[in-house]
Amino acid sequence: MKNQFLAVLLSAFCLLSQAQQRQVIKPGEVWPDADGKHIQAHGGGIIKVKNTYYWYGEERTRGLDTNKRYVSCYSSKDLTNWKFRGDVVQMEDPDNLGPKWILERPKVFYNEKTKKYVMYFHLDNRTYKVAKVGIAVSDKADGQFKYVKSFRPLDHESRDIGQFIDDDGTAYLVFEDRPFGFRIAKLADDYMSIEKEMCLIPAHMEGGAIVHYKGLYYAIGSGLTGWRANPNKFATATSLSGPWSAFRDIAPPETNTYGAQSTMIIKVVGKKSTTAIFMGDIWRPAAQWDSRYLWMPLEIGDGNLKLPEPKPWQLNIKTGEWNYISAD
Ligand code: GAL
Repeated sequence: MKNQFLAVLLSAFCLLSQAQQRQVIKPGEVWPDADGKHIQAHGGGIIKVKNTYYWYGEERTRGLDTNKRYVSCYSSKDLTNWKFRGDVVQMEDPDNLGPKWILERPKVFYNEKTKKYVMYFHLDNRTYKVAKVGIAVSDKADGQFKYVKSFRPLDHESRDIGQFIDDDGTAYLVFEDRPFGFRIAKLADDYMSIEKEMCLIPAHMEGGAIVHYKGLYYAIGSGLTGWRANPNKFATATSLSGPWSAFRDIAPPETNTYGAQSTMIIKVVGKKSTTAIFMGDIWRPAAQWDSRYLWMPLEIGDGNLKLPEPKPWQLNIKTGEWNYISAD
């Protein structure tokens, strides 16, 4: 009797937790985490460690200590349901940057050899003149990251940064070097410094994102219009060191990338299909806590790339397939 009662209770619990599982990604809408709060991971990046995805980004919740900067961490098995794992960076100005100092676009890499999580972020003063990267390290995905140092990668200016991990596991930093363009650089073995530059794409772009898809590299970037959306563009190359093609629009230019700015491309390699997901931020500069996300599967292949009009969609993490869905 007692066992039966427990079984009923257990299945009721399972049903309840299934009901709470979100099935649909709704670009541009509030995206609640497992606690029902809008995800705070702006200008973010995602890594997969074993079967778990970790999403790190700028934590911009209202009412936080304005002297500190925060980076959040969320985890997910399906890229749709996210659990808040805490603010893994809660940092005071590490470098005498002064009031309104900047910590933006955190990107975490997991180093298999050292077993460390290495976070890069854009570190700056209020006028964006310092143009450096900072590094912080943790032993755990959701541990407190300890600040290590700041520097200019290969002595170049660096503002927006992006991360790219190639199919062979090699890790790269993409950074915007204002006088020259968009640089792609290989991280050193322990990820604690930059080993070498792969190339300079002489285009003034930020929000750098790269995907390696069916033998071609695709690089996406936005124009330099601050928080205002602009037509994001892409170029292709057979090697990371180029030569890169000319840049072309990823969406009808009059939509200004449907109001979004690129931050990363996630490649989901499933049993049946490989999907490249555009991950963008819809910034709300006057209410940053309410900035939204535009995630859409890209139409990609044979040197072409298109961001389709955003509509609710669903991803099957196992097969890698996706489909549109009518709003529920
Ligand atoms: C954007 C950049 C953001 C932030 C903003 C400040 O262009 O991508 O990360 O720096 O400018 O205006």
